[in-house]
Amino acid sequence: MITSVKEILTKAREGGYAVGAFNTVNLEMTRAIVEAAQEMRSPVIIQITEKTMEYAGGRLIYHLVKNDAEFYAPELPIGIHLDHGHSFEFIQRAVAIGFASVMYDGSRKKYVDNLEITKKVVAFCHEKGVEVQAELGSVPYLGEYEMGEVKWEKYMTDPGQAASFAKETGIDALAVAIGNAHDFFKEREKPDFERLEMINKSCPNLPLILHGASDWENGKVGEAIKRGVTCFNVDTATRIAFINDLINSVRNQGNVSFDVRKLLGGAREAVKEAVKKKIKFFGSDGKA
Ligand code: G3H
Ligand code: 13P
Ligand code: ZN
Repeated sequence: MITSVKEILTKAREGGYAVGAFNTVNLEMTRAIVEAAQEMRSPVIIQITEKTMEYAGGRLIYHLVKNDAEFYAPELPIGIHLDHGHSFEFIQRAVAIGFASVMYDGSRKKYVDNLEITKKVVAFCHEKGVEVQAELGSVPYLGEYEMGEVKWEKYMTDPGQAASFAKETGIDALAVAIGNAHDFFKEREKPDFERLEMINKSCPNLPLILHGASDWENGKVGEAIKRGVTCFNVDTATRIAFINDLINSVRNQGNVSFDVRKLLGGAREAVKEAVKKKIKFFGSDGKA
């Protein structure tokens, strides 16, 4: 059952667990996420980026996810979300397609510009009943690292600024930067949990989102949930599961005799297992 992301996050917060927001680019990844959530009886968020909308066709990929979720898991709470929308114009396009939850990512902009555009996005979206996630500080990507040591201070969310940003914009969820990073192997050695705690205190009841969660496992996940994180974003881990399985199948293609469905079907199963593992870490299994 397609469900409001805000409702999924609020229940998670009240229940002391978190949910996974998993990126999809195609039918195989979508079905893998839906089946994993269904088998684990877990609420889940399926998200689509701008690049994926360009790749697959925005309307088509949105309806693929919606139809798949409605058909294969009609009773499961599933939220559909635009991940990392980078402009007001793109947000408008996503809303016109049907997205009821979007992220406006102005994290690479100056604070005042991020604030102004986020306000504009929220006004536009709320009028249409669409929920908005924004980002403050910024969660770096692999390609953005300078050579040598990463200057984490530059990326971190400021707790005081988070409070006024949330109040002024009226956002529904906030993506935080506490030493987390997109892609694998580039996290800060230790996440800044004190900072997370301060953000949580300065923005009471605001669901906090942790991007770059592919390499977040048991211990760190629990510490983050205790301090207000209600959603972990995962893309790299499922991409790796998909590609590695595909590579192995292609290497052994004698066994699959060039049957595309067998190749992609195997990759789909690998993604499903990766999603199930994450759901277990986040503690959302059995919560639907
Ligand atoms: O943070 C989001 C993704 O991992 C990047 O996805 O390559 O579809 O923009 P993308
Ligand atoms: P990973 O690169 O760690 O999977 O993060 C994904 C993400 O944040 C999507 O928004
Ligand atoms: Zn992200």
